[in-house]
Amino acid sequence: MTTLRSTLFSALFTCFTVMAFAGEGMWLPQLLKALNEGEMQTMGMKMTAEDIYSINQSSLKDAIVHFGGFCTSELISDQGLLLTNHHCGYGQIQSHSSVDNNLLKNGFWAATKNDELSNPGLFARFIDRIDDVSDKALAGVADNMSDSERQSIIDKNLEGIKGSYTLGDFQDLQIRPFYHGNQYFAFVTTTYNDVRLVGAPPESIGKFGSDTDNWVFPRHTGDFALFRIYAGPNNEPAEYSENNKPYVPKHFLPISLDGVAENDFTLVFGFPGRTNQYLPGVAVKQTMDVLNPAKINIRDTALKIIDQYMRADEAVRIQYASKFARVANYWKKWIGENQGLKTTNALGRKQKFEDKLVRANADSNAASILKDFDSAYGSIEESALARDYYQEVAIRNIELLNMQRYIRALVKRYDNNGEEEYNAYKQRLSGFLDNFYKNYRPNIDQEVFVALTQLYAEKLDKKYLPKSLNDSKYSTKSKTDYSDLARLVYENSVFTDKEKAMKVLAMNAAEAVAKIKTDPAYLLGVEWEKTYNEKISGPYNGQKSIIDSLQRIYMQSIIETFPNQRFYPDANSTMRVTYGQVKGYNPKDAVYYTPVTYLDGVMEKYVPGDYEFDVTPKLLELYENKDYGQYADTNGKVPVCFIGTNHTTGGNSGSPAIDAYGNLVGLNFDRVWEGTMSDINYDPSICRNIMVDARYILFIVDKYAGATHLIDEMKLVHPKKDIDWQGVDEVEQVKPEKLSRKMKRKMRREAKKNKK
Ligand code: ARG
Ligand code: GLU
Repeated sequence: MTTLRSTLFSALFTCFTVMAFAGEGMWLPQLLKALNEGEMQTMGMKMTAEDIYSINQSSLKDAIVHFGGFCTSELISDQGLLLTNHHCGYGQIQSHSSVDNNLLKNGFWAATKNDELSNPGLFARFIDRIDDVSDKALAGVADNMSDSERQSIIDKNLEGIKGSYTLGDFQDLQIRPFYHGNQYFAFVTTTYNDVRLVGAPPESIGKFGSDTDNWVFPRHTGDFALFRIYAGPNNEPAEYSENNKPYVPKHFLPISLDGVAENDFTLVFGFPGRTNQYLPGVAVKQTMDVLNPAKINIRDTALKIIDQYMRADEAVRIQYASKFARVANYWKKWIGENQGLKTTNALGRKQKFEDKLVRANADSNAASILKDFDSAYGSIEESALARDYYQEVAIRNIELLNMQRYIRALVKRYDNNGEEEYNAYKQRLSGFLDNFYKNYRPNIDQEVFVALTQLYAEKLDKKYLPKSLNDSKYSTKSKTDYSDLARLVYENSVFTDKEKAMKVLAMNAAEAVAKIKTDPAYLLGVEWEKTYNEKISGPYNGQKSIIDSLQRIYMQSIIETFPNQRFYPDANSTMRVTYGQVKGYNPKDAVYYTPVTYLDGVMEKYVPGDYEFDVTPKLLELYENKDYGQYADTNGKVPVCFIGTNHTTGGNSGSPAIDAYGNLVGLNFDRVWEGTMSDINYDPSICRNIMVDARYILFIVDKYAGATHLIDEMKLVHPKKDIDWQGVDEVEQVKPEKLSRKMKRKMRREAKKNKK
């Protein structure tokens, strides 16, 4: 193991060949100096690596905040103002909405700080520092150990490392494996729990184009929302309290009014969730041919049912908006991913790489690892598919069964730990249950149940069916139909009805548990879980741990075989920097997409009254009057979105796109259709991330919403027009756009004088 570590780190100080084109890679912020700074500066960056990540002084990283653990956000004022995507705050915006006060539809702008809305459960997490703890984590580990031996040594080591840290009152420590277990990094974090909703555009802006335009360019979505972090009296994390004050950040991002041009340098700073860049070809093939098609089909079936109901009833539309968007998002992503893997010949590329790896190092074990991968992926296929079916059908898409997981946990508390623990857990469940019933329509769910159970039964071997689904009443050789079972479950379960469920939960523990244990939804959930545990998860986990350890040695073999190449670790929800340039692309023969879209494009797509492409009168009016304030481009048009070669993934939503100087120029929210396979096979010719142009955000906040008090909090700059202002503190405090030309000239003269 130490050999690999020394390979990686001696390599840090030698010269690298760039693995692929600039653009690929999600890099660790603390290693930019060693690995990326030179290249970034060649691409146009005017900052140093220390400006981006430093533990000694404030740096860009202090403005980057993990939003709820699933998205990224960034500070854009000295009063804790936080920018993220509309779709990241969607659950919160939805939770404050009703038919009479529909914030999704109408948008929301807190007139004063007192009007900002609290969001229990939402947190904002900062990264204070990142340390390489690989040596300590892997001490005593040897190549010839069994996996369990190895893991138990590492677990002990990690405990030791945790013990060696002295953390501040509000700090936490997380240690995470990188390069599939070949390195370990420790993250010291601070988490704030009072995060309030400040502003959101209406869905017709924040989600313009909805699911039709999702994952697609040209794009015209103003996918942003504003929140604010609140802190206790000493700027420290505190639970929600009226007395909390806006958090004062160590750093916040100025916002550029100058926009972007093709080839401009951009970096995207955030928390990408998960990628699989180093899979063997056999795994990619399984994803493409077996797992993705199954998941797409299940979700397609569920979405079609829910969509009908949402279109017919406004109340249902609100109730199901967030759930539908979540399910639809990856449904569509997998479709795009499969297409992209085919068009970029991912399998051919993997084959070529594997041949090269084996050739480059005849003594390495690469050839035998690849063979072992073949057999392990062969062995896991059936259980992996059954597992996906179970998760998509019994966990994800049938809501009644999904909520039964918590009811089972409740009953288990009682059976194993007694009444006290039962009551404590019931208490914790109450918020979840309120939310569940607020957005639940049993008739819709019942229809989904009938369709998905049928799919499950038809596509999987009988041995994977829970007892009830195997009953000959519903399933015979010639016909499978679970409508009667559905009726039985949905009509007799107390859990399809809030009042009935609450009545049971109000009983004393023993009575409630006895009653729950006869409930048909509970019983079906228990049966299905039992089948899963007995028939699916065992075989799956056994093969998966073989695959995981193969992946670790495979990664090691790749790094050791090509010591002069840089390899970035797969995304794992830790802080990363990716950088690239603003660039258009050729989606297909003879078609070229230029990188910036404009408000004119919104109007081109506008369909009055449409479910996805409606435009509000206010936006139409601003457009007709060309009332753009300072937010138009030099061509007189308001930019809406732009694309670049930054390598991003889910979790990067809400990440800032930062210019060469450290200003915010855009807000990441998506990738283009042709490039959604970048999690597995990044291709610089067609992989692009999509960002909202910062000027569109400002235009909506200022001109559309009239929330000028928020604009006043921000720091707007002209990095391109006023380059020689850089570093002149007094000047940066002033909003340049509000100065007369004469004043600007004078300040520039002074700045020059100061420099001399
Ligand atoms: N595709 C983006 C992301 O992966 C945006 C999702 C917004 N949701 C939607 N269904 N439109 O998360
Ligand atoms: N919309 C995604 C998110 O929620 C980001 C797009 C992507 O997957 O690249 O993080």
